Amino acid sequence: MTTPVISRALVTGAGRRVGCALATALAAPDRHVIVHYNASSEGAEQTAAEIRRLGGLADCVACDLGDSAAVEGLIPKLSAQFGPIDVLVNSAATFHNDAIDRLDRTVFDHQLDVNLKAPTFLSAAFARQAPDGSVIINVLDNKVAALDPGFLSYGLSKVAMEGLTKMLALALAPKIRVNGLAPGLTLISGKQTPDSFAAAKARAPLGRSSDLADLAEGLLFLIGAKATTGQILVIDGGRYLDGPLATSAYHPAGS
Ligand SMILES: NC(=O)c1ccc[n+]([C@@H]2O[C@H](COP(=O)([O-])OP(=O)(O)OC[C@H]3O[C@@H](n4cnc5c(N)ncnc54)[C@H](OP(=O)(O)O)[C@@H]3O)[C@@H](O)[C@H]2O)c1
Repeated sequence: MTTPVISRALVTGAGRRVGCALATALAAPDRHVIVHYNASSEGAEQTAAEIRRLGGLADCVACDLGDSAAVEGLIPKLSAQFGPIDVLVNSAATFHNDAIDRLDRTVFDHQLDVNLKAPTFLSAAFARQAPDGSVIINVLDNKVAALDPGFLSYGLSKVAMEGLTKMLALALAPKIRVNGLAPGLTLISGKQTPDSFAAAKARAPLGRSSDLADLAEGLLFLIGAKATTGQILVIDGGRYLDGPLATSAYHPAGS
């Protein structure tokens, strides 16, 4: 006898790294996890296999979140195929290094398309089919609380996502709760070296930043926190308390 599915989650960017860890954290016998990917098809299959190994149900779906027509069609297609989705985790993002003195319009537009517009339109489509008690979790960055002008368009996309989280919390209540998960340095990105990464993490008040298990714990908390909406949970070892980064202390110039 199969266990009835009572929850269905879509996790974007779940074919690798943070998105993979978040999708895997959702593995449960009563949850169907839809593993979204763009280029990481093999990784997505591995994520889905791990979810199944842990007793959950999983399927994979491809979508380029820079393609607005594909974004519009994604949730209606999945909802028609599988049934209503009640958890949306917007984790996929691009992470390009730019600044006010080295802006590139193509990079800027693409970063905003993938990191901000896609989650916004996915949220709209999600809301049209979501049952009562549904949840949206937007993966932000501790850069929303410790501004970093060395990642200008990326940071702008995340600051806008913080605003979106709060606006949608108001717009979609009481049917849907909307919260943000803001990791600090978690995995090596860009041109960081293991040494510069470790040193940057150690600068946080707790002498550590987030790891994937911390993010999984935060995700599960926010999904279950029935009285919480419009909240941003920063998980970064307290680094955000130190305030803005003057010029990418975490990512020296060009990294
Ligand atoms: N890593 C960290 O330390 C850290 C720190 C703070 C915040 N975050 C946030 O955590 C999230 C994941 O970070 P990460 O480091 O795991 O990211 P990552 O390794 O750079 O991977 C990016 C993810 O986004 C997806 N993606 C990128 N462009 C896409 C597009 N055009 N269409 C569809 N999907 C696209 C990728 O999918 P494919 O691989 O399938 O193409 C991949 O799953 C992001 O929101 C990031 O801002 C991460």
